[in-house]
Amino acid sequence: LVDTIPTAPSIGSMEMESPFKANLLKGKVALLTGGGSGIGFEISTQFGKHGASVVIMGRRKSVLDAAVSALQSLGIPAIGLEGDVRKPEDAQRVVEATVKRFGKLDILVNAAAGNFLVSAEDLSPNGFKTVMDIDSVGTFTMCHEALKYLKKGGPGRDSSSGGFILNISATLHYTASWYQIHVSAAKAAVDALTRNLALEWGTDYEIRVNGIAPGPIGDTTGMSKLVPQEINSKAREYMPLYKLGEKWDIAMAALYLASDAGKYINGTTLIVDGGLWLSRPRH
Ligand code: HXC
Repeated sequence: LVDTIPTAPSIGSMEMESPFKANLLKGKVALLTGGGSGIGFEISTQFGKHGASVVIMGRRKSVLDAAVSALQSLGIPAIGLEGDVRKPEDAQRVVEATVKRFGKLDILVNAAAGNFLVSAEDLSPNGFKTVMDIDSVGTFTMCHEALKYLKKGGPGRDSSSGGFILNISATLHYTASWYQIHVSAAKAAVDALTRNLALEWGTDYEIRVNGIAPGPIGDTTGMSKLVPQEINSKAREYMPLYKLGEKWDIAMAALYLASDAGKYINGTTLIVDGGLWLSRPRH
């Protein structure tokens, strides 16, 4: 779930060449929540550039339309479907429409998220619940609706392997983060979903379920909303490893996990933050 961005999103890091072969995800069908902007859009773009057909789900038609045009201009088979991950009926409709359009579903990326900075004291229980509903319940709902298509031998799939789920998480709940109690709780739950679904669905259906925990990524709603410039520059002083990542970095990690290169990786949330969360000032 994204905030504004009414115009066409910029196409990732066009100048940075992918180290992967262009057919890495050839023939795959990917559905991405929050796939119309920010990190989600960059993953959509890179999945498409590496051979996947792409369906993006989001709440705002203008964002979806701009994103789909941008993807199609690269020759990527792409559609946008309006929907809110908080509504089970939307989740079901979007999954069904994906399979109707492209014949199957191979990859689900849960990139939709909600966030704002607020102290625990000032956060209403409904504000807390809103972010839990988007990030955690929404992720579960999408996984649940997608299950029958991701199963080994499911509609449109052969019986040799299941599909893949990628949950976009964060690192802030590894410690504690000021004014983000709601997001910390929500992303901790997302990581638990990743592990538990990897266990149950990996065992029963050969579906791999992994996550990515991005560090601070430039040119995203999350950065502009959550990390004011003055914090950003101070962080460089007290966190030696502080440097901004690019959406491209997250998309490359997503490609690796989604492809056969990651076939033995299940239940992991890959931290892609340049080492930042470990970083401490020198003494
Ligand atoms: C305090 C707030 C608030 C704010 C909303 N609420 N914004 N409380 N400060 N800034 C409270 C409201 O008062 C209300 O509670 C409840 O939350 C629901 O608010 P609504 O506005 O009705 O919700 P909705 O319209 O559904 O909007 C959802 C949203 C919105 C999450 C609140 O901000 C949103 O969708 N934002 C765009 C998504 C986004 O930010 N994406 C970037 C994610 S970055 P009451 O009690 O008043 O009813 C990211 C990075 C994480 O995830 C990791 C970072 C390191």
